[in-house]
Amino acid sequence: MAERTLAIIKPDAVRKHAIGDIIRLYEGIGLHPLAIRMMRLSKACAEGFYAVHRERPFFNDLTTYMSSGSVVVLVLEGTDAVKKNRDLMGATDPKKADPGTIRALYGASIEANAVHGSDSVENATIEIGYFFAESEFR
Ligand code: CMP
Repeated sequence: MAERTLAIIKPDAVRKHAIGDIIRLYEGIGLHPLAIRMMRLSKACAEGFYAVHRERPFFNDLTTYMSSGSVVVLVLEGTDAVKKNRDLMGATDPKKADPGTIRALYGASIEANAVHGSDSVENATIEIGYFFAESEFR
């Protein structure tokens, strides 16, 4: 079923000049960009995005890191987009990610793990709405 998901290319991957490689991986498995924005998140914006994690011990480090440099925020569309993107991303900890996944290829640590991807269709809708208006899509 055609779905949409939200992906973020995180500051470590942007600093490694891996934006193009990562977008090629998305397109290669039929995850087509509907909207793309490169931006620097403020700390408050990162805190709002990751609000579900606000009680976690890593919340402050995570949101400081996510606001440490530019990110690329993408809406991807394709068949089973949420699961396809999760499979392509690999495990949260790059050391545990399967070979060939984005986090195995470009992640450095559980924090600097190259990409974010929505974990469910419901959260994808919420996360897409955090960054984009429906009127921005073709
Ligand atoms: P992400 O998919 O963006 O969603 C939440 C992020 O928290 C996760 O990727 C990790 O980069 C980050 N994080 C940092 N420390 C931890 C941790 N100990 N456990 C899980 N996630 C962590």
